[in-house]
Amino acid sequence: MIARLDRRESGSDSNGDAARKVRVRAPAKINLFLHVGDKRSDGYHALESLIVFAETSDGIEIGPGSDLKLKITGPFGKALSRESDNLVLKAARALQAKYPHEGQGAHIALEKNLPLASGIGGGSADAAATLRGLNGFWRLELPEDELLDIAAEIGSDVPACLLSSPCWMEGRGERVSKLGAMPPFELVLVNPGVAVPTRPVFAALNARTGIGAMARPPVLASVWELVAYLADAGNDLEGPAGRFAPVIEDALAALGHEPACVLAQMSGSGATCFGLFDGSVYAAGAAERIAEEHPHWWVKSTRIAAPGIGAPQWSSTA
Ligand code: C5P
Repeated sequence: MIARLDRRESGSDSNGDAARKVRVRAPAKINLFLHVGDKRSDGYHALESLIVFAETSDGIEIGPGSDLKLKITGPFGKALSRESDNLVLKAARALQAKYPHEGQGAHIALEKNLPLASGIGGGSADAAATLRGLNGFWRLELPEDELLDIAAEIGSDVPACLLSSPCWMEGRGERVSKLGAMPPFELVLVNPGVAVPTRPVFAALNARTGIGAMARPPVLASVWELVAYLADAGNDLEGPAGRFAPVIEDALAALGHEPACVLAQMSGSGATCFGLFDGSVYAAGAAERIAEEHPHWWVKSTRIAAPGIGAPQWSSTA
């Protein structure tokens, strides 16, 4: 997953550094369940979560440059451009500060397709993709555990996003371990158009499942086995997020009313909800109906991503 490239692979031998480019996908993160434990002495809550990634993603492209520059495009790019800082630059600077080399610039283009502050890790996925991409682009060749340490400093969801493959998350989010392959399934993602900031949702938490209620999943052969495994699980942040944004209930209801939806739940601290479907035709149909009824919502039919989705892809412009 993490780029470990020799000079020929990275294209510099034949084309020179000026010709190198790397593209990295930043897939949406889905918390299939999210249980919250006690608040720790550092102010963060202990978490336990089963995380998978969807095929729908933001995109990062890194090209040469003498300084660090970020250009943002895409349907949610405008909203992000107004923010004073960005997790992509934070990730790039964190890597630069730890491992400074001469001439370490990069021009980064972010295609922002995922809604902001939406519980599917958009900003965290972008930061993680930047770390994966720059690790190869700057030929740092850092091993995954070192990148995970940097990721944890950037945000609680960034380590999981660095793996971009099914994983078990613990601690405040910094302890992540890859799981075996999940069964294939379709997802419909529904964001009812409200940005929900993470901190107040955690602060409003009252009831919680706590840590240790779920064992890691066994090998799951079908989406039905996954649903059975998730029977006693949920998202502890759904209640508090719903108090900030009651429309989350409507999004869950819209998914739940779809006859082929086998599980509907909120991801992360909201407001994006996901429905699991056993079949792409059903998922596409559900997404179409929900989008038609709620033209201002963001609705996306997608599927669980293969583990390699976040691997850097090299190209040459020469
Ligand atoms: O780490 P991150 O910046 O994503 O966290 C945003 C906020 O969410 C934190 O400031 C904290 O209030 C809350 N949080 C928490 N426990 C976690 C993760 C986040 O309380 N494990």
